[in-house]
Amino acid sequence: MDFQARLEALTHQLLPWSPLWSCSILQGWPESGAAYPEEWRAYARSLDEAGERQLDQGALVDVPPASLRALLGALEELTALPWHEGVHPLSVTERQGLSDKKTHELERVLSLLGPRTRFIRQAADIGGGMGHLARLCARTFGWTFHSIDRDAALQDKGRRWLARTRPSGGDTLCFIQASVEDGLQPRIDPLFSGQDRASIGLHTCGPLALTQLRKSQGAGLVLNIGCCYDKLELPRDYPVSRVGSAHPLPFTPKALALTTRGRPWKSDAEFARMKRVYAWRFAFHLLSKRHFPEQGFVRAGDAPRGLYDGPFAAYALDRLERLGLDAGMTDAQLDAFEMSVRAETRELLLCHLLRDRFARALEVVLLLDRAMLLEELGFQVELLQLFAPRLSPRNLALIASRSA
Ligand SMILES: C[S@@+](CC[C@H](N)C(=O)[O-])C[C@H]1O[C@@H](n2cnc3c(N)ncnc32)[C@H](O)[C@@H]1O
Repeated sequence: MDFQARLEALTHQLLPWSPLWSCSILQGWPESGAAYPEEWRAYARSLDEAGERQLDQGALVDVPPASLRALLGALEELTALPWHEGVHPLSVTERQGLSDKKTHELERVLSLLGPRTRFIRQAADIGGGMGHLARLCARTFGWTFHSIDRDAALQDKGRRWLARTRPSGGDTLCFIQASVEDGLQPRIDPLFSGQDRASIGLHTCGPLALTQLRKSQGAGLVLNIGCCYDKLELPRDYPVSRVGSAHPLPFTPKALALTTRGRPWKSDAEFARMKRVYAWRFAFHLLSKRHFPEQGFVRAGDAPRGLYDGPFAAYALDRLERLGLDAGMTDAQLDAFEMSVRAETRELLLCHLLRDRFARALEVVLLLDRAMLLEELGFQVELLQLFAPRLSPRNLALIASRSA
């Protein structure tokens, strides 16, 4: 794939809309709404429940504005990436105790690695957690494997697991407890260096992905699947490639948080729940703005799940108490307030549904930038979709080798 052409085309589509995707809707409301064309908002307002649900999945029903249809069409085309289709089925014993999500991921990672690792004899998994991938790679490919993680408790759990399931003869698997950081680390750095070594990171949170890529310049093969892009630090972690630096997008922490929301498939019940959480949160925001303007933006935070099932008053009283605030309102007054702002909280919801349409494109921009960094380091690089988004939405894999 021509990563540069793809990045330039995506940048061209995304840049004009940066006021929309780079800012929080709620924190800047109502001024933030100005970034959303009135014809988009009018269209969204016209949708019924089913239409809202479609919009949440990226589909436009009825007669959408031409500019919205054209933009979403272009973003869909530019975020389409090749799929890795293969599966390496795990045996019943191998999948024992693994969640469906983890099994799904491991079966695809093993299948991706198989044909690309003829020259590999050793591998290291960065942020390897309990070492499931390490254990399976060691058994499937016969590699010597180091699973590195900073979480000692997780690794202990992994060791106990291994002791229970290890067949006689054992594996060539070793846990190393260490925090992988930028800069020299003589104990672990050699593990990523050598043509017969693979450097693997499966769901490396935030900047750990970039630390892995930088540390793996001497590896024969690099596999990285990122996540938690909201933990990246700007401008340190984006752009990281020369080409990316020549076509930068004005990413902000809010835009990074948006990238983690791409493709979250939802059931009807999950969509309804999301709407209720938003409705209570937005109404609380409007309430606190009206009654406590001197407080500025008040963070409602995550309330206990059950509070979203009950009346607004119970939720609002709980949040006010947590914040040490007293609006001096009865339950009936609080519920009446929520009713009175419903048109506005729906407007906020619709802006969120529109803004979420940019999430996947922004995520792909981050990954294209990383792909080009690897190319600039001399690797041949593939950027593939690996996991079913319903099970594992952060499903983009970078796989790079020097001998492909
Ligand atoms: C999202 S989990 C992924 C775990 C495992 N790879 C998997 O897919 O199940 C990220 C892991 O990275 C570890 N981690 C995060 N930052 C790290 C760092 N700087 N050095 C080592 N481990 C780190 C965490 O302790 C955690 O186990």
